[in-house]
Amino acid sequence: MAEYILQLKNIHKSFPGIKVLEDVHFELLPGEIHALMGENGAGKSTLIKIISGVHQSDRQGEIYLDGKQVYIRSPLDAQALGIAAVHQHVTSFPDLSVAENVFIGHEKIHSFAKVIDWKAMHKQANDLLERLDAKFDSRVQMGSLSVAQQQIVEIAKALSTNARILIMDEPTAALTSQESEDLYGIIRGLKQKGVSIIFISHRFEDMYTIADRVTVMRDGRYVNTWNVPEVNDNTMVVAMVGRELVQFFPKRDVKPGEEIFRVEGLCRTGFFKDVSFTLRRGEILALTGLVGSGRTEVCEAIFGVTVYDEGTVTLNGQSLHRGDPAASIGAGIGYLPEDRHKQGLVLPWEISKNITLSGLDQFTIRGWIDLKKENAAAKTLGEKLGIKAQSVYDRVSTLSGGNQQKVIVAKLLNSDMKVLILDEPTKGVDVGAKYSIYEIMNELAAAGYGIIMVSSELPEVLGVSDRVVVMKEGRVTATMDVKEATQETILRYAAIQNPPSVQVKAPGA
Ligand SMILES: Nc1ncnc2c1ncn2[C@@H]1O[C@H](COP(=O)(O)OP(=O)(O)OP(=O)(O)O)[C@@H](O)[C@H]1O
Ligand SMILES: [Mg+2]
Repeated sequence: MAEYILQLKNIHKSFPGIKVLEDVHFELLPGEIHALMGENGAGKSTLIKIISGVHQSDRQGEIYLDGKQVYIRSPLDAQALGIAAVHQHVTSFPDLSVAENVFIGHEKIHSFAKVIDWKAMHKQANDLLERLDAKFDSRVQMGSLSVAQQQIVEIAKALSTNARILIMDEPTAALTSQESEDLYGIIRGLKQKGVSIIFISHRFEDMYTIADRVTVMRDGRYVNTWNVPEVNDNTMVVAMVGRELVQFFPKRDVKPGEEIFRVEGLCRTGFFKDVSFTLRRGEILALTGLVGSGRTEVCEAIFGVTVYDEGTVTLNGQSLHRGDPAASIGAGIGYLPEDRHKQGLVLPWEISKNITLSGLDQFTIRGWIDLKKENAAAKTLGEKLGIKAQSVYDRVSTLSGGNQQKVIVAKLLNSDMKVLILDEPTKGVDVGAKYSIYEIMNELAAAGYGIIMVSSELPEVLGVSDRVVVMKEGRVTATMDVKEATQETILRYAAIQNPPSVQVKAPGA
């Protein structure tokens, strides 16, 4: 028997004008969980798209399955060989049921009549969901599920083809820590059943917790493979970035000034209740808490994407209009939403246009856009964040996932705002770029901005902010100076059993 279940040799891939993979090799052991890591644009997604038949490698590449050479020319080929992938941006059909999403492309057909066998399809979908410990039925509409639940459907879809090799591209990027824990459980269960797993993530914690081995790629090349117990943060950073990062968080020396922003007694029935906090000039305020604690909902309401029922939001003493994002922007509030792909990017546009979109007045002379100035500004920010592209004229749709994310952040940081609300600003970006984002946040704070950062990563909360607001079940349970905060205290306030508050109604109740 072959040592490896999957082996790739000599993989090259070029797109017009750009070499993305160069002489990459990769080996997957039977029944292992193998993490694939590297900076944004390193070529991870491209490599797994070659394994799953979305792209073909350039001519010289070789792929072996159980020691036998195979040719994977389409996703159907991959499926027939027992390879399934959950891609970086979940592409489900929100209006269809879970079962329809699971079996799309290979619907169950009655053997005697050429019609879809709904009963069999729902039964099998529910069996799969049960195997994955899902708490929802195959008949519910996909669009009504949370991101984590949709992820489970994607995995069910992968398993519905009896895959022996399951590839997951950043499955935890949009999940909270509890949801990630649940996903780890599912992945371990699959491993026990003999499925081999390739797992892409930017989170070291994912790798330490579930992977057996880890392979690092840099600039389209293979760097090395290790057994996970042999590596530490430093080995990984050096392998991925090519140099040591002395620290993960830049030093803060901004002294917050006077209060500029105030949220008082904010309520939205079913979502959050009596939320109050203040923000000072130059301050970075972290808003943290567990799954569904209401952080994102509070930010949406402040900015005006949704409407709150009670309370006030004031900027420099002026109260803001409720439910009016345009007025919020006009008043100087910038917002980076959690779901970047729904709101944020014009994919067919060039990078430069996307970045300068929100700060357009800076680049216009009597109504005409000053292209030179626009491109120069885009270039500076792009370099600062390390956006990997050939030039600022590249279309955003050709960028890797993390690099698209950097464009969204750059776009916001380029706008002229007084208060920035950043919902998980570093999700999906690599360690080096995280550092640059923190640096820019510091610069903006020094320039007098107030920043509200929603984050679930406690080291980030502690490393970046001045004060921490903890939420639980739609209520603020603690507000503390970061100097008094520790992971333990934050977790205690995020998870205490009976917060001294009225019970918040469930959404839609
Ligand atoms: N269709 C395409 N046309 C041109 N360039 C492309 C195309 N697809 C990917 N690239 C380029 O290939 C490089 C590698 O992209 P890939 O998506 O594999 O990176 P990645 O390692 O998955 O990054 P991330 O962590 O950001 O998801 C990037 O520079 C990207 O711009
Ligand atoms: Mg990717």
